[in-house]
Amino acid sequence: MFQAVHTGARVGIMMEELISRALDARSRAYAPYSRFQVGAALRCDGVVYSGCNVENAAYPLGTCAEGGAISAMVLGGGQRIEEIVIVGGGDQPCTPCGGCRQKLREFGQPNLKVHMISPKGEILLTRTLAELLPDAFGPDNLG
Ligand code: THU
Repeated sequence: MFQAVHTGARVGIMMEELISRALDARSRAYAPYSRFQVGAALRCDGVVYSGCNVENAAYPLGTCAEGGAISAMVLGGGQRIEEIVIVGGGDQPCTPCGGCRQKLREFGQPNLKVHMISPKGEILLTRTLAELLPDAFGPDNLG
């Protein structure tokens, strides 16, 4: 069984599940154009939802892994992201793109933890949504 690693210590069961689901989602990514496969797994009401990037020959129509996970959550009846793990390729953390940060804001609080992991399952970087998207425009701004 896959064992998640975080600075040498074993991570919690739910985090392990998020990591393993993100890695599995990444392995299913459809990314023949960029060849950059991404997986995302988020926790909502104790349930894990995942997504992968799906590209298109008409390049701008491709969708991100985070968006796929959010769609799965909404379809499953959830509306609040409690934690999310994102995995891309290489040693650099796959930080969510600008559009995905805004999508995360729709369903996540400013203190939402966003973990970026390596393809080996190691946590490379953890940021709050507020750090990734300061002074965000969100549902509250609409009054
Ligand atoms: N990608 C994601 O899925 N999530 C991100 O946050 C960053 C980028 C995808 C989009 C595209 O399919 C590929 O990575 C290269 O940009």
